[in-house]
Amino acid sequence: MSSGTQVGIVGAGPAGLMLGHLLHLAGIDSVIVENRSREYVIDRVRAGVLEQGTVDLLCAMGVAGGLNRRGLRHEGVYINFDGCRHRVDMAELTSGKAITVYGQNEVVKDLIDARVETGRPLYFDAQEVSVDALDATRPVIRFSHAGTSHELSCDFVAGCDGFHGVCRPSIPAGVLQIYERLYPFGWLGILAEAAPSCDELVYTYHDRGFALFSMRSTDVTRLYLQVPPDEPIANWSDDAIWDEMLRRMTTSDGWSPNVGRILQKSVTAMRSFVAAPMRHARLFLAGDAAHIVPPTGAKGLNLAAADVVVLASALKEFYETGSDAMLDGYSSICLRRVWKAQRFSWWMTTLLHRLPDETPFDHQRHLADLDYLASSRAAMTSLAEQYVGLPWEISLESLHL
Ligand code: FAD
Ligand code: DHB
Repeated sequence: MSSGTQVGIVGAGPAGLMLGHLLHLAGIDSVIVENRSREYVIDRVRAGVLEQGTVDLLCAMGVAGGLNRRGLRHEGVYINFDGCRHRVDMAELTSGKAITVYGQNEVVKDLIDARVETGRPLYFDAQEVSVDALDATRPVIRFSHAGTSHELSCDFVAGCDGFHGVCRPSIPAGVLQIYERLYPFGWLGILAEAAPSCDELVYTYHDRGFALFSMRSTDVTRLYLQVPPDEPIANWSDDAIWDEMLRRMTTSDGWSPNVGRILQKSVTAMRSFVAAPMRHARLFLAGDAAHIVPPTGAKGLNLAAADVVVLASALKEFYETGSDAMLDGYSSICLRRVWKAQRFSWWMTTLLHRLPDETPFDHQRHLADLDYLASSRAAMTSLAEQYVGLPWEISLESLHL
């Protein structure tokens, strides 16, 4: 079956769904093609921290009903080392900015509901998805769905299909420059049926490795542990996970996470990755399709949001004025933010994890870094302004949402 649209979007993760809704609000047609089921996309447990700008965006897009009801606004964050929690007062250091804890799966569910309400096409369970004729005036997305083969011709293709998607590998060899760094550790993450024992996040540096206390709601705690990168989850019984969590996180004043039934557990490897430029001909990459950050700075989902704001703005300008000046600037505008987020995520990661090959010198320098952070207003301000999110490259007002 042949059909056409203005913007063909591959992937219904946060990037694809947000882009689809921004385009809808600008009166631009799109078709979203996702290779997983709706349930799989919603149930996938991932990020939880929304920057102030991402919250403002979702509110301006009119998809923040759940976020406003159930999102948890945090004005501070703790750095825990040497048995003590040190609070960074983000709101005070950034003139009132904060982060909001609201699960990525909730964000995705809200955006899918909004998409369905618009009546615009969103295909789940698409098979054999491919993109072609990227250099032509009408590139195509091919896929099969419910036994029918589709050929969708588009003005532009948005590759929002994550790190393992098909769009980035469809760009001819030699076009992209790849920057990559792998880390010699991963995160074992759990969701636990336990009321959060602290109302803000606690990032822990411990001799035995990094640990993170977070949450999803007033009844569910989300916790992470540094483990070897290829650690089989089967090596970790629930009791072993709790022993290690408590060992790393418990402070000398007796604070520790509440223990409860483990609802979900998995291990994620960590990498830094950038593919540049984020565009080839009529294909635009956004979100994890173009870049990956280690999760320590909680930037992955927020970067995806920042990319699609720039892309939606550029497409709106193109359709309203015929100018492709902003489309031409898309990659360089996004990459400025991407590299700052890469730098921050790398810094948070190296600050808080133990490296397998570190020397006694490295270890002492590391402790001094933490001590400096906890005792310097300038250092805390730098962390706070990056953690709540640097200003957007494009003002939300320019989108006229
Ligand atoms: P994705 O969310 O990956 O969405 C891409 C979509 O494209 C998916 O729905 C996928 O099914 C679909 N797709 C893939 N291939 C195809 C294809 N061939 N055809 C059609 N559709 C396709 N960030 C944090 O800040 N904190 C965290 O704790 C955290 N944990 C993470 C855990 C894991 C396992 C992963 C993978 C990422 C994690 N991240 C975390 C990063 C964050 O979740 C991502 O940055 C965010 O999901 C990026 O959104 P996206 O829409 O660009 O990509
Ligand atoms: C969460 C994930 C992160 O990567 C992070 O830095 C903070 C919180 C979370 O899942 O809640």
